[in-house]
Amino acid sequence: MKQHLDIALIGCGKMGSAMLRGWLAARIVNRIYVLDPAGLPEEFKEYAPNPLTYFKDTGSFTEEKPQADLYIIAVKPQIMNEVCRAIAPAVSKNAVVLSIAAGQKISVFESFFGAGCAVIRAMPNTPAAIGKGISVAVANGFVNEIQKEQASTILRSVGQVAWVEDEDLLDAVTALSGSGPAYVFYLIEALAKAGEKAGLDPGFSMKLARQTIIGSAALAEAQPELSAAVLRENVTSPGGTTQAALDILMSEKFQDILNETIKAATTRSRELSQ
Ligand SMILES: NC(=O)c1ccc[n+]([C@@H]2O[C@H](COP(=O)([O-])OP(=O)(O)OC[C@H]3O[C@@H](n4cnc5c(N)ncnc54)[C@H](OP(=O)(O)O)[C@@H]3O)[C@@H](O)[C@H]2O)c1
Repeated sequence: MKQHLDIALIGCGKMGSAMLRGWLAARIVNRIYVLDPAGLPEEFKEYAPNPLTYFKDTGSFTEEKPQADLYIIAVKPQIMNEVCRAIAPAVSKNAVVLSIAAGQKISVFESFFGAGCAVIRAMPNTPAAIGKGISVAVANGFVNEIQKEQASTILRSVGQVAWVEDEDLLDAVTALSGSGPAYVFYLIEALAKAGEKAGLDPGFSMKLARQTIIGSAALAEAQPELSAAVLRENVTSPGGTTQAALDILMSEKFQDILNETIKAATTRSRELSQ
């Protein structure tokens, strides 16, 4: 397998930048071609022109036709069609097109890049910005094992990678891990509010809520052999304060609320991909 890949990054916004940062840190790329009319973010300027070539518009990109192993599509879904249509003539026929756009089906990319084109659709999440994301990917039938491994390498530079066979699962994946960071941040807000109600100063309550989530997540990461249930039980002495709290949390239909939460996001993801 080729160790150092040539990659074209189409869209260098929040998610594109996070990935680019990861590739540069992991030194897994040979050449990088970045297309983004918004300009090359300051932090990457030291990498141009070598190993990074920057293109300000699709015109110069298609004129140059940079030959890459993978073309990573990281633009907003709203402009996806326009961008794909514009760059399609420049994309090498034996390359992989890897999209991270929410709700854009593999068939959309096949329609732009040709029916025999190798396409991977992946759903990362925002902790990718610090290398702690998780991406779930699905490939069409034209992606071979080597290309799959190359795509895993690319996605692993910003966190963990999981593959699924069934593209329909990406709606539930989007609902759980794609949107999930927002639920955790909301939990921080809600805990801080509850702390205020219990008499804590707002700033202090927020500090406690935030660090509790950070510390608990770090603990779960440090002890992967322990299930979430065991980690919870480790905080819970029978008849103690945590037990009193969990008697409320676990009986007040918290699971039902989360079921509804994930269901709503899954349904919305399905609607958006129609
Ligand atoms: N952020 C997330 O949590 C997340 C999670 C999973 C998946 N995603 C997916 O990742 C994709 C990118 O999201 P994002 O949050 O990174 O968005 P973003 O920050 O807006 O980045 C998109 C970038 O593409 C640029 N762009 C606009 N027109 C272009 C063109 N013709 N060619 C190349 N680049 C162009 C934008 O420039 P302008 O600013 O000038 O328009 C912007 O810099 C989306 O499809 C989203 O669904 C995001």
